Amino acid sequence: MSDPVAAHYSSRGGLADTIAEGLRRAGKDLNELKTADLAAVDEFHIRGRRATLELAERMHLGEDSRVLDIGSGLGGPARTVAEAYGCHVTGVDLTQAFCDAAEALSDWVNLGNRVAFQQGDATNLPFTDDQFDAVMTIHVAMNIPAKDKVYEEARRVIKPGGIFAVYDVLQGEGGDVLFPVPWAREPSISHLARPNEMESLLADAGFKILDVRDSTGESQNWFEEMMARMAQSGPPPVTFQAFLGSDFPEMARNQVRNLTERRIRTVSYICEA
Ligand SMILES: C[S@@+](CC[C@H](N)C(=O)[O-])C[C@H]1O[C@@H](n2cnc3c(N)ncnc32)[C@H](O)[C@@H]1O
Repeated sequence: MSDPVAAHYSSRGGLADTIAEGLRRAGKDLNELKTADLAAVDEFHIRGRRATLELAERMHLGEDSRVLDIGSGLGGPARTVAEAYGCHVTGVDLTQAFCDAAEALSDWVNLGNRVAFQQGDATNLPFTDDQFDAVMTIHVAMNIPAKDKVYEEARRVIKPGGIFAVYDVLQGEGGDVLFPVPWAREPSISHLARPNEMESLLADAGFKILDVRDSTGESQNWFEEMMARMAQSGPPPVTFQAFLGSDFPEMARNQVRNLTERRIRTVSYICEA
């Protein structure tokens, strides 16, 4: 595997099998699965499914919307949005192993006809101009130094007037990030933008920013509550550990400090193309 970002995310093979095995061990019937049953492993961002639904509420989606999810991971956000709004969501992700798992998980919850996943790079999207009514991207650009290209590509594939929703981890004012974190074990693949930089990147790509929300305090609470829950009643059947491996507990502890000390911030942007 030549790309260090894809290598970070796919150090373990057979991801769908690992997840299926974890669910079966916990007594889940794969034929009866709901999207929410997968949320602890397939909504791979801070504040999970709740954050996806909150972002989608601000995207003006309907049944006819054609949505693109850039950096779709295991496909949790795409399935959540497709199910909640009855729309079609295409996911694109650099990591082939995640695209393969995303397809399998979508079949388990009978959403295979409403979502599709393909491998591709956010800085060079494999889509024609003006193809989507709305585009979202959740916790992806922190792995990408060429953020101008990501936002230019998003602008290119959205129809004029369409909504671009970004929910990302940004560099905070409290000092350098403590590693490892879920998106990087060390700094060479971590590229966090600062809040003021984001606003000019989005404007330079041709977006009008309609709404900005900083959810850092809520993110800190979410991590603290998750860790307290896990200490009390153990982890859910499958977690990010399925692909992040045994480093995940240390990553989670670092995230609590990164958020508490404002080394990172979580911010979302709703923009119009
Ligand atoms: C933290 S995960 C978030 C996944 C998903 N958005 C979610 O919230 O569940 C980051 C994802 O970004 C993808 N990614 C990183 N760099 C990328 C690039 N240049 N193009 C496309 N995807 C990329 C990774 O493969 C990974 O799936």
